[in-house]
Amino acid sequence: MMVFKEQLQLKKHLALHKKATIGLVPTMGALHAGHLALVEQALEENDYVIVSIFVNPTQFDDQKDLNAYPKTLAADLQKLSTYGEKVFVYAPEVKDVYPEETTTKQFNFGTLETTMEGTARPGHFQGMATIVFKLLAGFMPTRAYFGEKDYQQLSIIHALVAQKKLTIQIVNCPIVREKDGLAMSSRNTRLSKEQRAIAPLIYQTLLQARALKEKKELPQIKQWVEAFFNAHPAFKLDYFCIANAQSLQPATTSREGEKIRAFIAVKLGDIRLIDNINF
Ligand code: PAJ
Repeated sequence: MMVFKEQLQLKKHLALHKKATIGLVPTMGALHAGHLALVEQALEENDYVIVSIFVNPTQFDDQKDLNAYPKTLAADLQKLSTYGEKVFVYAPEVKDVYPEETTTKQFNFGTLETTMEGTARPGHFQGMATIVFKLLAGFMPTRAYFGEKDYQQLSIIHALVAQKKLTIQIVNCPIVREKDGLAMSSRNTRLSKEQRAIAPLIYQTLLQARALKEKKELPQIKQWVEAFFNAHPAFKLDYFCIANAQSLQPATTSREGEKIRAFIAVKLGDIRLIDNINF
């Protein structure tokens, strides 16, 4: 496994493999089995895989959150080294990504970015799109892999690739969960023992909400979820939203053939967790 700190160096290396297919897996490190599933799928479908590890400052609206983000480069490299020579790691310093200043490019994703995470984290998706565009346009991989854990992020990346007319296939990868259903996240390591014990309620409630579709209308289900979390002293619900899986706009009735998803963001103490399911 080769590790590169500079984009230029890695691009020079890629030039040696002109005919090869390249999969790109962008991450912010603190790698867990959710990330590794993306790497493994990319390895199955491409000759080489670039894994980027970069805690992108422009996508953090909260400086505290950026400072608290786990940085575990040595352990990450150890995990990736098990995949051997087909993996190239791009682990840059801030100045390699943002040589001038850490400003954010301006994109327009319309209503895709003014709902849910976009409302809760102003500027987050502009910062995310800035780094993802730099990585996609910089390396021009054959395919790039992203998790449905961050479903809204994925929707925006699809829009970005269409707007910029990039000939890169964006691959949606399913959410990897702990045995008890909690969606894997680097933030899970920050949960206390007590918080970790009740965190699976997030996914369980999504499943129960979906089962209620048999007998209740969508607005009633939304109220039921909100009431559940509001009555629970340890959780603070940010939003629960049932939305069209493409437009991400709220759905109020389940129409035949319409693909919908349920999205949730909740806080346990000051740790914010998100999840979503096909609904
Ligand atoms: P990060 O949170 O490190 O996630 C990297 C990739 O792993 C994302 O595509 C994310 O959706 C995916 N992922 C995380 N947890 C997952 C899980 N439990 N199951 C499946 N996939 C999972 O998302 C980012 O970084 C950044 O915004 C990034 C795209 C790298 C831009 O900075």
